[in-house]
Amino acid sequence: KIPLLIDTDPGVDDALALLMAFNDPRHEVVGLTIAAGNVGLKHTVANALKLCEIAGIDAPVFAGCPGPLLHPAPDAGYVHGEDGFGDVGYDAARRTAEREHAAQAILRLSHEHAGRLLLVALGPLTNVALALKLDPTLPERVARIVVMGGAVTGHGNITPAAEFNVYFDPEAAHIVFEAFPRIDLADWEGTIAHGLLHDRVVEWLAADSPRARFYERISKKTREWSADRRGEYWHSADALAMAYALEPDGAAELVERPVVVELGQGHARGMTVVDWNRQTGLADRFRILMRYDQGRFEGLIRAALAAG
Ligand code: BDR
Ligand code: CA
Repeated sequence: KIPLLIDTDPGVDDALALLMAFNDPRHEVVGLTIAAGNVGLKHTVANALKLCEIAGIDAPVFAGCPGPLLHPAPDAGYVHGEDGFGDVGYDAARRTAEREHAAQAILRLSHEHAGRLLLVALGPLTNVALALKLDPTLPERVARIVVMGGAVTGHGNITPAAEFNVYFDPEAAHIVFEAFPRIDLADWEGTIAHGLLHDRVVEWLAADSPRARFYERISKKTREWSADRRGEYWHSADALAMAYALEPDGAAELVERPVVVELGQGHARGMTVVDWNRQTGLADRFRILMRYDQGRFEGLIRAALAAG
């Protein structure tokens, strides 16, 4: 099995991505490293532990950095609920997080699975950036990194220019984007192009499984918020990134270009600047997911909810 390490800030769409990973027979989740982002670290850690408990998964959970590397940033509790899981008031998981810090766990697991590790980052890149600062040789041991982040033609979701994960910690994104020789990028605009019909999602959530029942509860608030704002389609950024990670051959269109992150404090802070016309002379190190097989994507979600 391919060892899979997920850095994540659960988060309703993170949770769906995690269920997809838990259900994949070709990958083994070797750890969850937890970032602050959608909500504070206390909640993202508690949510990860609870989701594992519901799904019957004993992958170790490592708490990471409590905030961005340099500049504080607002969270996204207004989308995911104050606790990041729709404020349904679940009982805390029995298990607690490991003592090891997420950044150190990333490095250790990269040694244990050197040359084979699939690293999937679904939140702000703070933990991965810190791991790189501790040990810049990390990319040599990672077989593939998939990042959910950015808005490649500049239609941001948190500001007009920026996508949430990159905006929350642009310096971390910059460090990660510079360090890895190849990055598979699933961005916000790709997410918008792969909407899920609310009615269909409701059908999948009716599956007779603990995973579907729990996910139905924690996703209710954000599905309602999205239906009010964006109409009949729901968008799950981290689920699409996970589909690309688990089944890369489902990608129907990939574009290879250089990408850099804007670090200034102006309107474009956190923007992912894609060199579409190859004017910078930088290498085409990013493989940007433009289109993914929609049937395959939906099949992975449906199966993930029905499992267990
Ligand atoms: C990303 O931001 C978060 O709110 C989601 O979990 C996803 O990772 C989408 O911009
Ligand atoms: Ca996320």
